[in-house]
Amino acid sequence: MTIFTRFLPQSHISQYGAWLKSLDPATLRAYFGIGLGPKGIDSLVRKFKKDFAHHHFLVAEKNSKWVGVIHIASYQDTVEFGVIIRKEFRRLGIADQLLGEALIWAQNRQYKKLIMHCIVENSPIRKLCQKHGLIAQNVYGDIEATMNLPKSNWLSVYKEAIQRQVNWYYYLKSFKA
Ligand SMILES: CC(C)(COP(=O)(O)OP(=O)(O)OC[C@H]1O[C@@H](n2cnc3c(N)ncnc32)[C@H](O)[C@@H]1OP(=O)(O)O)[C@@H](O)C(=O)NCCC(=O)NCCS
Repeated sequence: MTIFTRFLPQSHISQYGAWLKSLDPATLRAYFGIGLGPKGIDSLVRKFKKDFAHHHFLVAEKNSKWVGVIHIASYQDTVEFGVIIRKEFRRLGIADQLLGEALIWAQNRQYKKLIMHCIVENSPIRKLCQKHGLIAQNVYGDIEATMNLPKSNWLSVYKEAIQRQVNWYYYLKSFKA
């Protein structure tokens, strides 16, 4: 299965809101910890639009359809990731790919710490975090998984450059298909 990823341009941020609204309620509950409705999503997107410099969205696409998104929020030397994969496309390694690429992106931009939050019952995300080396702890009934990001080096820069080329290749190919 060919999946490619790309960062969402600022002018396309509303597409993220539309995509969230297209997801099933259980997925939104697992992600936000509450059942967020269309109004809540609109207000979230307005917040992102106002502060786009601190919000990045890496989108995974297949056949011109969004199958997953990792949201990267940044503040000072810390990044926080939140990942969602559309239900029909789970267990195919897409979150693995998004998280791997987002980690390299954050490392190469000199961020020092990564945080991911999830509800205690969410065992898939806890396993995903564990697989990528994050350490989870229980904070007031929720799980906070953290890791210190390694410093960027020639290998991490090279990896990001290769990833970008591969993604461009599949992105351009998707227009020909
Ligand atoms: C959690 C979520 C992002 C995983 O996405 P995914 O694309 O299905 O995950 P992947 O196929 O890339 O799996 C990567 C790893 O995650 C873990 N994992 C994913 N789904 C799992 C499941 N149902 N049960 C146990 N482990 C799971 C495994 O460690 C897996 O590695 P492995 O295949 O080598 O065992 C997805 O289930 C989802 O979108 N859930 C709803 C939204 C959410 O809860 N987001 C988290 C809040 S930040």
